Amino acid sequence: MTRTGRVLTVATATLAIVMSTHATSASAQAPAAADIATGQTLYVTVGCATCHGPNGQGTAAAPRLAGSADALPAFLAYVRDPALGMPAQGVQVVSDEGLTAIYAFLHSPLASEPGQATDAAPAGNAETGAMLFRRDGCYQCHANEAQGGANGPRIGPDPIPFARFSRYVRNPTGSMPPYSDKVLSDQGMADIHAFLRARTRPPAIDTIPLLAP
Ligand code: HEC
Ligand code: HEC
Repeated sequence: MTRTGRVLTVATATLAIVMSTHATSASAQAPAAADIATGQTLYVTVGCATCHGPNGQGTAAAPRLAGSADALPAFLAYVRDPALGMPAQGVQVVSDEGLTAIYAFLHSPLASEPGQATDAAPAGNAETGAMLFRRDGCYQCHANEAQGGANGPRIGPDPIPFARFSRYVRNPTGSMPPYSDKVLSDQGMADIHAFLRARTRPPAIDTIPLLAP
C-alpha cells in the first residue's frame, strides 16, 4: 500500500469511530422537548409528512415511521441513501442535526403511537375489488377466491396489513410481477384489499362430512 493510501485508511477509520461514537451518544440521550418540536416542524417543512403522513403514521404511498425500530444511525443512513421508492434527502435539504430532531419527534408522543389504528386500510369497495382482481390477473395465480394454488399463495381472507400489501404489490420480491399505479391505482389497491378481507373463511375440517374423523 502507498503511504498516502495508508494515511487515508487511518483517517477513514478514525472518522468512522468518531461518527459512530457521536451517533451512539445521540441515540442514548433522551431528546429534549425543544428537539422534538424542531423535529416536528422540520418533518413537515422538509416534506417527509407529504409521503409518510402528518404524524408519521404512514400512507398508501410510504410506510409508517412513528416508533420505528430502526436505531438512529440506520435511520440516518436510510434517509441519505434510500432503497426503492423514496427520493434521497441530502444534507443540503436537511442536516444530521435536523434528522436527529425528526427522529426524536417520530419517537415522541406527538407522533402516532406504535400499533395505533394506523395500519387500517383506506376505505375500499369489495365489488370493485373483485372486478379488479380478475381484470389485473391476480386470480390467475392466487385463484378465484384468493385461496391460492400452484402459482401463488393464499392471500385472503386475512391479507397482510394494507401498507405492506400495497408495497408488496408495487415492488414484489419474488416471482410475482410488479403492479405500478398506472396499472392499478391506490384506490384500486384498497378495493382489492377490501375484496380479500371479505373472502369467506374456509370451513373447519371437522364440519366437512367427508373429512370428519
Ligand atoms: C416522495 C415520498 C417520500 C418522501 C418525501 C419521504 N419518504 Fe421516506 N419513504 C418513502 C417510501 C416510498 C419509502 C419505502 C421505500 C421502500 O419500500 O424501501 C420510504 C421509506 C422510509 C424509511 C424506511 C422505513 C422502513 O420501514 O423501511 C425511512 C426511515 C424514511 N422513509 C424516512 C423519511 C424521512 C425522515 C423523510 C423526510 C426527510 C422522508 N422519508 C421523505 C417515501 C418518501
Ligand atoms: C404471475 C402470478 C401472480 C400474479 C398475476 C399475481 N401474483 Fe401475487 N404472488 C404471486 C406469488 C408467486 C407470490 C409469492 C411471493 C412471490 O414469489 O412474489 C405472490 C405474493 C403476493 C402477496 C404477498 C403475500 C404474503 O402473504 O406475503 C400479495 C399481497 C399478492 N401476491 C397480491 C397480489 C395481487 C393483489 C395481485 C393482482 C393485482 C397479484 N398478487 C398478482 C404470484 C402472482
